[in-house]
Amino acid sequence: MEFESKIRTIQWVDNISRMVDQTKFPDEYVYVDIKTGDEMYDAIKTMIVRGAPAIGIAGAHGVVLYALELQKENLSLGDFKSKLIEKCDYLASSRPTAVNLMWAVEQQKNLIKNCKSNIETLISDLTQQAIRMENEDIEINKAIGRYGAEVVPKGATILTHCNAGALATVGYGTALGVVRSAFANDNTIQVFADETRPRQQGARITTLELTMDGIPTTLITDGMCSYFMKKGMIDMVVVGADRIAANGDTANKIGTYTVAIAAKYHNIPFYIAAPLSTIDTSIKTGDEIPIEERSHDEVTHINGKTICADGVNIINPGFDVTPHELITGIITEVGILKPDYNKSIKEAFEKKSPVLV
Ligand code: MRU
Repeated sequence: MEFESKIRTIQWVDNISRMVDQTKFPDEYVYVDIKTGDEMYDAIKTMIVRGAPAIGIAGAHGVVLYALELQKENLSLGDFKSKLIEKCDYLASSRPTAVNLMWAVEQQKNLIKNCKSNIETLISDLTQQAIRMENEDIEINKAIGRYGAEVVPKGATILTHCNAGALATVGYGTALGVVRSAFANDNTIQVFADETRPRQQGARITTLELTMDGIPTTLITDGMCSYFMKKGMIDMVVVGADRIAANGDTANKIGTYTVAIAAKYHNIPFYIAAPLSTIDTSIKTGDEIPIEERSHDEVTHINGKTICADGVNIINPGFDVTPHELITGIITEVGILKPDYNKSIKEAFEKKSPVLV
């Protein structure tokens, strides 16, 4: 049985990119129309849209928006292409860690570089590619969900960190896609959601989307996970990923590494759920993954109110890297990859994805 989620995070509609504004949660669930490339850069940077696969699609949409703007300048095909490539690189620089953004923009760049016809045909091709990627994202997540559901024990309590759900993708979700698929067959499963300081994606986003879909969810603060693991109340951990190195080391929201260490200590399976587009085989280990440093206000303030002494030192890395030794398996659209990850990742890329044929 397949679970139908009500959530559509981002969609190309009549030459605009329509997305759920995730800075407004949990007070409001509203859509915003992004109409220019610069607006898209800001939407990604300020996290109106966030989550690795969702910002990939946003990047693909952003390239089309820039192309539509440049079309008005009556440029030659050559000048149009070189200006658009510059815009692509600018868009790809809006956030550094999630490789899906660079992956999606790179696919658009390939179309631009190879175009020999004319501007109208190129814009149509860029639009079609963005729409195809958007639709495929949902199918990929459903495939991840089906594979992941096979390793969810009956009646399991699943711990997750941050939000790797429908709202981090076009719809359905990666880690929460596994939850949705498992729940479709067994409505006794439940989720423990880490709050995920500093931006509280677990509290603001994961609890919202799971509640909307009627999946039982308990919110805990980040420091509580080992307490519940020790009590035997967590059966497995499933989280998403922003970038996975060739050896399986995985960058995800700050705090994920701590959860993985606690899971290892308590002998609890720890899974990553991510599409192949999150795997960056150009880098050998997690040491090479660029980690975004975010605004200090995210740490010093909650809901606009200061929570610490003035003048205290602040550091705010947005992500950490979980070493591959702590990862039980990587759930992808072509199956669950197991250690040795260098080998299983290579094999996964050789396999043809069932949803992409
Ligand atoms: O900073 P965010 O909210 O974009 O971070 C999101 C995460 O870390 C997610 O877990 C990750 O992108 C996977 S989303 C399917």
